[in-house]
Amino acid sequence: MTSAPEAPALPESLISTLPGHFYTDPAVFALEQEKVFEAMWFCVVRSADLDKPGAFKTVTVGRESVLVSRSRKGDVRAFYNVCRHRGARLCTEESGEVRRSFQCPYHAWTYDLDGKLIAAPNLTKMPDIDRQEYGLTKIAVREWLGYVWVCLADEPPSFEDTVMQEIVDRLGDTDSIDHYTIADLGLGHRKVYDVKANWKLIIENFMECYHCATIHPELTEVLPEFADGYAAQYYVGHGAEFGDDVRGFTIDGSEGFDHIPGVGEDMDRRYYAITVRPQVFVNLVPDHVIVHRMFPMAEDHTIVECDWLYMPHVVESGKDVSHSVELFHRVNSQDFEACERTQPAMSSRTYRNGGVLVPSEHHIGEFHNWLQGKPPE
Ligand code: FES
Ligand code: FE
Repeated sequence: MTSAPEAPALPESLISTLPGHFYTDPAVFALEQEKVFEAMWFCVVRSADLDKPGAFKTVTVGRESVLVSRSRKGDVRAFYNVCRHRGARLCTEESGEVRRSFQCPYHAWTYDLDGKLIAAPNLTKMPDIDRQEYGLTKIAVREWLGYVWVCLADEPPSFEDTVMQEIVDRLGDTDSIDHYTIADLGLGHRKVYDVKANWKLIIENFMECYHCATIHPELTEVLPEFADGYAAQYYVGHGAEFGDDVRGFTIDGSEGFDHIPGVGEDMDRRYYAITVRPQVFVNLVPDHVIVHRMFPMAEDHTIVECDWLYMPHVVESGKDVSHSVELFHRVNSQDFEACERTQPAMSSRTYRNGGVLVPSEHHIGEFHNWLQGKPPE
């Protein structure tokens, strides 16, 4: 018989991580789906991707498929992607466009772009059916920073006190992020990563820079202070400064693109990373913004969609943004490879009690406390 080593009393420099099963147990993941992804504001699509009335996307939020679309008046709407008749999945495509209604492929119940039931075989012979009542079930929606956020909770938490507060906690206010005019930027590039790792490994990795010197040679060239391993991004208002000879946030430090005009001198030549729990990372540099959205699919599988956003004229001009995109694409690939290397070891008996966090990672303990509903220390 072998058993997990007894958790030793930790020296002061170390605090413990979550135990291994938090990253492998389907029951833990199911609880997170219910208590986190289906309870909090969850960032689903970029508003501009719904570019006209009838444009739609389907996304996975917790255990639900959500249909996000634009109404005839141009507003964004979100519905459960479930037909109110006998529950068929209404839309099976990841994205598409309808002219004026969604029709269920099973018995042809038809809903307008506001979700109201407008037609069904023999509907006129059932005058007692309330067409609003039997319309698609609506989901709470907010738009901010050019993205659509939904909340499946019956009583959504305050958007201001959760999502917006995360930005305030990081930058000191929301004005600073407003200067980047993210909603007005254009999409220069998008990559989708299929990561065979638990979503928490991806968040924990993003929150620390202890690994930067080991796995991010290109990033530490551009941001030399990251080589020290301290997550400078977690001091309120601090942005990591570009190296002296670095001209732009690019793979080789060469010149980037036209700066976003609102970005003042105090935020120039700096990189800011922000974690918006539970599934968004925002990265700010003077000439572009990188937004990651995570879609946790299983305890060992997360899809990450990453957008590179530039001034609209940069995108429209067709300029080659690959030097710029390549830097963070490489960072993403290095990070996700590290997460995938870690995931299989989470079920090792020697990790039953978890691992440890060094001082420059201690703030990750706050994430663990938050996840377990413990008050902040
Ligand atoms: Fe959709 Fe019957 S299940 S119309
Ligand atoms: Fe990293």
